[in-house]
Amino acid sequence: MTRLLTTLLVSSFLLLSLFSTSSYAQQNCSGFSFRNNQNFATCNPLPLLNSFLHWSYHPDNHTVDLAYRHGGVSNSDWVAWGLNIDGSRMVGTQCLVALRNSSGQIHAYTSPISGYETQLTQGALSFNVPRIEAEFSNGEYIIFATLVLPSGRTSFNQAWQNGRVSGQTLQRHVTSGDNMRSFGSVDFANGQLGGDGGSSVTSRQRRRHVHGVLNAVSWGVLMPMGAVFARYLKVFKAANPAWFYLHVACQTSAYIVGVAGWGTGLKLGSDSPGIKFTTHRNIGITLFCLGTLQVFALLLRPKPDHKYRLYWNIYHHAIGYTVISLSIVNVFEGFDALNGQKNWKRAYTGIIIALGAIAVLLEAFTWFIVIKRKKSDSNKNPQNGTNGVNAYGNGTHQQA
Ligand SMILES: *[C@@H]1O[C@H](CO)[C@@H](O)[C@H](O)[C@H]1NC(C)=O
Ligand SMILES: *[C@@H]1O[C@H](CO)[C@@H](O)[C@H](O)[C@H]1NC(C)=O
Ligand SMILES: *[C@@H]1O[C@H](CO)[C@@H](O)[C@H](O)[C@H]1NC(C)=O
Repeated sequence: MTRLLTTLLVSSFLLLSLFSTSSYAQQNCSGFSFRNNQNFATCNPLPLLNSFLHWSYHPDNHTVDLAYRHGGVSNSDWVAWGLNIDGSRMVGTQCLVALRNSSGQIHAYTSPISGYETQLTQGALSFNVPRIEAEFSNGEYIIFATLVLPSGRTSFNQAWQNGRVSGQTLQRHVTSGDNMRSFGSVDFANGQLGGDGGSSVTSRQRRRHVHGVLNAVSWGVLMPMGAVFARYLKVFKAANPAWFYLHVACQTSAYIVGVAGWGTGLKLGSDSPGIKFTTHRNIGITLFCLGTLQVFALLLRPKPDHKYRLYWNIYHHAIGYTVISLSIVNVFEGFDALNGQKNWKRAYTGIIIALGAIAVLLEAFTWFIVIKRKKSDSNKNPQNGTNGVNAYGNGTHQQA
């Protein structure tokens, strides 16, 4: 049985490495040199569609000078990048567009998107764009622009895209894969502090991964595992003090790591006011409260023979099972919020099914032992026979 539990522990660390290997490459950002020796203070690779955003933010006049690079395209493609001031994704995005026009020149213009059927026709944006130009070379468009940002904000949702130009018309972009996921957010002020201190798409993605690992391993795996130790190890007389310490060790480390994970979640939430995962957040806050209650309850635990101990046990089990059920639900809520991380969801589902199967086996085994013990007790000691089944029940209280 300990081998099974070790396997579980190992697989939870496999889950951890799955999380940590899926970060983005940062190449070709700082190394890139623009024509005319133009320089930008910050650069972030956008996570999809071979794109990069370079910029300098000027707090005094609240403007941004930027260069948007979109590679892996030909000059019969169009590219576009924009900020969505009030929404996210495509509709509402205030776009900068570049293409090769009918006179064969690379042309850049602004285009606000009001609906899915947009032809990306030229129009003024909701904020001022004093400068826009573009160039094309080596399969890469670069749009240079100066934006006068809407007042009072430096953090926005952004979206970027590419598609074919046929004749005079811009064709719709591909409606599957990366082209449907090329949106995120950008903070022009924070990004300046070295490129990953802010809410750039990549650093936020990384922080989401850290948040996912900490919580899936602590609340999602260690907590239920500690309960398995407590419930099933104590039936073995030889494991009598050991189960208690294993249980406390598992639950305490799960709580400590879990609180760290909870903190990263709150930070993620406060850094992305436009993105709300209300259920996930509320369950997370409830879990933190119940988990903390459980830790304090441990300190207030009455002695095993105290008359209130039975009530304490009922309370402890009720809160414990609630925490575990909510934790598992919330880990799945988290995977849904991450969107498209199917491998993590599969890995975690596997771990939970394995834990569940182990618990069912151990439950059956426990009953087998208890019934056997009851029989042999009643043979040895007929007058106390009715207490036999309580040997298991009392055992739970002896050391804790
Ligand atoms: C970096 O850029 C160069 C030229 O722009 C390109 O050939 C190379 O594949 C890029 N490397 C990566 C890792 O993106
Ligand atoms: C904004 O201020 C910066 C210097 O702080 C200056 O270089 C830039 O030209 C200004 N931009 C506009 C559009 O006034
Ligand atoms: C093509 O783009 C260039 C550069 O922006 C512009 O000067 C020219 O007027 C455009 N031609 C047409 C036909 O739109």
